[in-house]
Amino acid sequence: MTPTLTIRGFQVFRGFLDAAAQAAMLKDVRAIAAAAPLFSPMTPYGRPMSVRMTSAGRYGWFSDRSGYRYERLHPSGVAWPPIPASVLAVWDAVTGLDRRPECCLLNFYGEGARMGLHQDRDEADFTFPIVSISLGDDALFRIGNRTRGGRTESIWLASGDVVVFGGDARLTYHGVDRIRQGSSGLLNDGGRINLTLRVVD
Ligand code: SIN
Ligand code: FE2
Repeated sequence: MTPTLTIRGFQVFRGFLDAAAQAAMLKDVRAIAAAAPLFSPMTPYGRPMSVRMTSAGRYGWFSDRSGYRYERLHPSGVAWPPIPASVLAVWDAVTGLDRRPECCLLNFYGEGARMGLHQDRDEADFTFPIVSISLGDDALFRIGNRTRGGRTESIWLASGDVVVFGGDARLTYHGVDRIRQGSSGLLNDGGRINLTLRVVD
């Protein structure tokens, strides 16, 4: 499969999901959030993140004063729901790997939510890529370098876009500066959903 564009090793597949596929995936996302409600993780620095999160899969991503890590259970004590087939199908199509992800982190960006530049480095094996799926309002996604600092480049990600970052880009700093609230009609009340798929173990 050929990406629409590649920036610093981040492969961007524009409009990977059409309107019907986005609506179908949104139903699956709502079912995840019903089983494992969104919450605002505390950063190790003691402030709640502006993005609300939950997960599907054997592991869920979690953060509190003790640091960033993966957990087997949602904070309420329930197991994370399984990763939907619609989401695994995207992983299969863009990675072509036999190994499947054990975590689908679900991020919800409401009014004013953003995510600072960070590396995804809580996983055991960086030879596996991260796959990111965008639904809802447009996001200004910033791509930096493999170490903190230096020049960055930003692109707008729209509903249905898929991004794959593996190989040399796997540990590249990235973040979301802002959301263009109301730019998509997918979510009735606006906002953006991002799903990231990770091999954890
Ligand atoms: C993340 O880095 O976990 C989220 C990226 C995004 O929201 O596009
Ligand atoms: Fe990330």
